[in-house]
This record gives sequence, structure tokens and C-alpha cells, in this order.
Amino acid sequence: MEKTIEQIKEEALKELEAASDSESIKAISVRYLGRKGAVTRFLRNISSLPLEIRPEAGKKANETKKTLEALFNKALKQFATASYEVAGEIDVSLPGRALHQGSLHPITQISHQICNIFIRLGFDVAEGPEVETDYYNFEALNIPKNHPARDMQDTFYISKNVVLRTHTSPTQPRIMEKQKPPVRVVAPGKVYRCDSDLTHTPMFHQVEGFLVDENVSFGDLKGILTTFAHQMFDKETSLRFRPSFFPFTEPSAEVDIRCVICKGKGCRVCSNTGWLEVLGAGMVHPAVFENVGYNTTRYTGFAFGMGVERIAMLKYGIDDIRKYFENDLRFLRQF
Ligand code: FA5
Repeated sequence: MEKTIEQIKEEALKELEAASDSESIKAISVRYLGRKGAVTRFLRNISSLPLEIRPEAGKKANETKKTLEALFNKALKQFATASYEVAGEIDVSLPGRALHQGSLHPITQISHQICNIFIRLGFDVAEGPEVETDYYNFEALNIPKNHPARDMQDTFYISKNVVLRTHTSPTQPRIMEKQKPPVRVVAPGKVYRCDSDLTHTPMFHQVEGFLVDENVSFGDLKGILTTFAHQMFDKETSLRFRPSFFPFTEPSAEVDIRCVICKGKGCRVCSNTGWLEVLGAGMVHPAVFENVGYNTTRYTGFAFGMGVERIAMLKYGIDDIRKYFENDLRFLRQF
């Protein structure tokens, strides 16, 4: 009887060796391990064997069953891999799924373009914190507590003395405190205000720029900003400087760019005025220099803060600023 189970095993192994595809392995497996298979029949007949050889015969038959099961499965897997079908679960002949490649958000791209223009003009790039102290956001910029200018920017307060910065201008005193003139810096980043309509969002981006040295004049500011506009858009782009007020600059100006979309004729983006306000600017106020320990008789400087979304609206002809933040991939993939 012992010989018989060994014979069965030998025959099964021979057949397995000769098998050339997964179908024939499945058939061999049925012939030996199936309900009416040779090994199964042997196991069923053990009760008819003489009592003394039953335990040994049962042990050997079970071992044979396990060995054959393992060998059949291994062979099946090998054939499945070789024929590119892993256990019927993956059909590797199917076309692959396209991997979506990420890209920079259009506002990030424009912010980089803006900074690159200023880098070519000799400016360094720096950054400041988005969660800012009341001191740097207001006081160091000549906006004391209860100053009416605080109402110009609706502020999100974190606590009494900590705010979400309302503009990138706090980078001015932060950097000037650490660096003596000459200073030429652009500082891009996110800013926050309680504001929302076609041309305003509660979170938006600014690029601050400032230059401090001896004999810096308002003419230098105009020259730098005009060069910027010509490089960002084209040589035909006109700028308009309107007198304005910022506590940290004197004199101050708001700068509009002739609407690139309607060429000044008037459209939804420029509220039919032909111009879009893109930045605030001016000559750094002596009070700011005093706060950072600069000699106000020796140094002068200009500063500006531009709205990146406004520049992006003009650059891409987008008439609603909120589209940049709706995360609609059909919109974002265009850039
Ligand atoms: C300021 O934020 C000043 N810190 C700019 C400045 C810097 C002046 C240095 C002088 C010297 P203002 O609030 O005007 O200024 O904002 C500057 C620009 O940010 C605006 O011209 C506009 O382009 C953009 N901006 C302002 N509010 C929003 C908003 N809610 N959504 C999108 N863009 C905005």
C-alpha cells in the first residue's frame, strides 16, 4: 500500500514535469487531488487497510497531498506570470493608466515670473511669516493702535497682538532690522483680508519690493516699475501713478496698469475704467527708517506691494479673481 501512494506521487510529478501550460496543470491537479482524484481515493480507502499500517499510510498520504498541492500552485503561478496573467487578477495586456503630472498653480507661476524680473534688476528674494505680530504688520510701519489706517485693511486677528498678515509690507522692517543699506529685496507671499468680490479674495498674494540706498528718488521707483511692466507684459503697456496714502510711505501712489484685456476701452475686469489697480507704492517714510535704526538723513528708499492675482488676471485675460481658487482642474490645466 505504501508503494502505491509513492507510485501515485511519482506519476503525478512526472505529469507535472511534462505539463506545458496552466490548463494542463489544472487538469493534473483534478486527476490527483480532485474529488475522484487518485490521492483523494487513496485517503478514502485507508479505513479498509490493516489496522497496523493505517497510521503510517494516512500520514504519508496527507504529506503527499500537501506536497502536490504546493507544487501545483507554484507551477500555476509560474505559468501565469510567464503568460502575463497573475492568477487571473491582473490583465497586464490592458493599456496602462495615464499618470497625471502635477504643475505649478498659475499664481505661483506668475509670482515666480515677477520675482525673476526683479532678480534680473539686481534684487534679492526673501520671505516673511504669514502669521505676523501686530508690531511688524502695523506699528513698525507707522500704523499705531487706533490709527484710522488700520480700517483700510480688514484684519483677521489670531489674538490681541497676532494677526494673519494683511500685506507683505512687514517684510520691510523685518529685513531692514537685520541688513544695513544698500538693500534691494523682493518678498513674495500670501496675505489675508476679510474681502471678497470679482477683484478681491480673502487670501491673495503680494510681492513686496523695496530699495534703500543713498540718493534714491521717486524717479527710480517709476523707472523700475515701468521696466517691470514692459517685461511682464509688453513695451506698449502704460502705467498710471495716482496720488494715494499709506502711513509707511511719503509721498505715496497707487499704480494702475492700462487694461491689457480691453486695451483701455473698458471691460468687466477693469470695471469699465480702462485701468486696473495693481500696486501701492511710495518713498519709505522716515518713521519706518527710525524704527529699524537707519540714518534718515543719509538714506532714502522706495517700496511697493503688488497684487499677484491682479497681474495674473491681466496676463491671462481672466475676468474673475475667484476662478484662481475654485480648484477647477479644467481651468487650472490651461496654464
Ligand atoms: C498694500 O497692501 C500696501 N502694503 C502696498 C504698499 C507697499 C504700499 C509698499 C506702499 C509701499 P493695498 O492694500 O493697496 O496696499 O494692496 C496692494 C495691492 O494688492 C492692490 O493694488 C491690489 O493689486 C492687491 N489687492 C489688495 N486687496 C486685494 C484683495 N482682497 N484681493 C486681491 N488683490 C488685492
